[in-house]
Amino acid sequence: MHLFHYQNDRLHCEDTDLGSLAAKHGTPLYVYSKGTITSHYQRLDAALDPLDHLVCYAVKANSNLAILSTIAKLGGGFDIVSAGELYRVIKAGGDPAKCTFAGVGKTRAEIEFALEKGIYCFNAESEAELRYINQVAGELGKKAPVAVRVNPNVDAHTHAKITTGKSENKFGIDFDQVLDVYARAAKECPHLEIRGVQMHIGSQLTSVTPFREAVEKVIPMVKDIQRLYGIQFFSIGGGIGINYKQSLDSGASTWWESNSETHPLTVQAYAEAVVPLLQPLGLRILCEPGRFMVGNAGVLLTSVLYEKRGSAKTFKIVDAGMNDLIRPTLYEGWHQIVPVNKPANGQTELADVVGPICESGDFLAQNRDIAPVQAGDVLAVMSAGAYGFTMASNYNTRPLPAEILVEGSKVSVVRERQTLDDVLKGEHIA
Ligand code: LLP
Repeated sequence: MHLFHYQNDRLHCEDTDLGSLAAKHGTPLYVYSKGTITSHYQRLDAALDPLDHLVCYAVKANSNLAILSTIAKLGGGFDIVSAGELYRVIKAGGDPAKCTFAGVGKTRAEIEFALEKGIYCFNAESEAELRYINQVAGELGKKAPVAVRVNPNVDAHTHAKITTGKSENKFGIDFDQVLDVYARAAKECPHLEIRGVQMHIGSQLTSVTPFREAVEKVIPMVKDIQRLYGIQFFSIGGGIGINYKQSLDSGASTWWESNSETHPLTVQAYAEAVVPLLQPLGLRILCEPGRFMVGNAGVLLTSVLYEKRGSAKTFKIVDAGMNDLIRPTLYEGWHQIVPVNKPANGQTELADVVGPICESGDFLAQNRDIAPVQAGDVLAVMSAGAYGFTMASNYNTRPLPAEILVEGSKVSVVRERQTLDDVLKGEHIA
C-alpha cells in the first residue's frame, strides 16, 4: 500500500505534487509519505492485536529522525544494529526500553552505551558475544538482558544476499546448539538476564510459508527455554516482503483495495499464519519489520540529464546513481520507474536508466519499457523508502541527496542536501 498516485497526470505523494518538489528542492531527492508509514504501522499493529506484542521497527531500513519520530509517536519500538542507530532513536524521542540490539559484531563501546541507556534486550548471535556482554555488564556492575538469535536453518526463498536463516549464513546460533548455549549462559554468566528468544530468516519474503515453517520449528524450543529460564518474549524477526509493482492510478481507495488483493504477502495473511501458533505461548511477541514499514512509503526523484541512442541500447542518463540507490545493482532489485508528468499518449520505449557513476553496474533499470522521457524530465523511482538513503554513499564525491517528509500537503525537509564542504568535512592534507 502507498499514497502515491497520479492526479491530472501529475504524480502526487499524498496531496503534494512531486514535480513541484523536484523543481523547488532539486534532484536526486528522496520523498517519503508519512501517511503510508502510519498506515503500515497501524495495520501490522492491529493484525497482531490478539497477542501481547511490540512492533520493533528495523531502523536500518530508513533511519531518518523524522521517520523514527513518527514511529516512536505511534508507540513503536526499534530493532537497532549499532550504537549509532540507538543514538538516532534517542534523538528522535524513541524509548531505549523498547529497543532490541541485533548484529553479529557488537563492540565494547556499543555494549556499554546500550547498557547505560537501558535497552530492552541484546540479541546475541554467538556464544562468544554472550560471554563478552556478560563480562562488560559485570565490569559496569549491571545485568544485561539477553536473547539468543536462533538460526532455524529454514530457506526464506529470497535473494541470496538477504537470506539469513540458513546454517551457512553468519547469523544466529545453529538450531542444534541453542539449548546448550542457554544452559551455559544460565550457569556461567551471572551478569546476564535471559529475557527472550529471537530469530530472523531473511528479508523481502513474499510467501507466508517460510515464516510459518520457522515459527513451527522454533516454538518447541521456545517452550523449553520458557520453562527453564522464565523468559518474557519471542521475537519472530522482520522480513515481510512488499510489492515493488503497484498501480499509480488516481482514486486512493480503489488502488488500496486492488493492491491489497494482489500484494504477494498481506499483513492479514502473515498474521493468520503466525498468530494462532504464537498465542498459546503466552509470551510477549516482537516483530522487526523494516521494509514493510517504509519501502513503499518512499520514492527517489531523479532528473534526466541526457539521452544516448547506441547501436545496442538506448540509455536515459539520470542524475541519481548507484551511490544514491544501490539496490538494483547489489540485489538485482526491481524498482518501478515512472515520469512525474504522465505523457498523454501512454507510449513507452525500451531503455536502460543509468546514473553518472563510472561503473557499468551503475544502473537503476535495464531493458525497461519506460515513458519516452527527455532531458529535463523528472522520473520517480518507486518503493525506494527502505534501504535507499540508508545505503547511499559519497562514492565519486557525490553529496548525499536531501530527504523530504510529506504529510498531506505539508512538506518538511527532514534532511538537507549535503554540500561539497559537508562531504569533505574532517578530511586533511597530511
Ligand atoms: N531484523 C533483523 C535481525 C534483520 O537483520 C533485518 C534486516 C530486519 C529485522 C528487517 O528486515 P525487513 O523487514 O526489512 O525485511 N539491504 C537489503 C535488505 C537487508 C536486510 C537486512 N536485515 C535490501 O535492500 O533488500
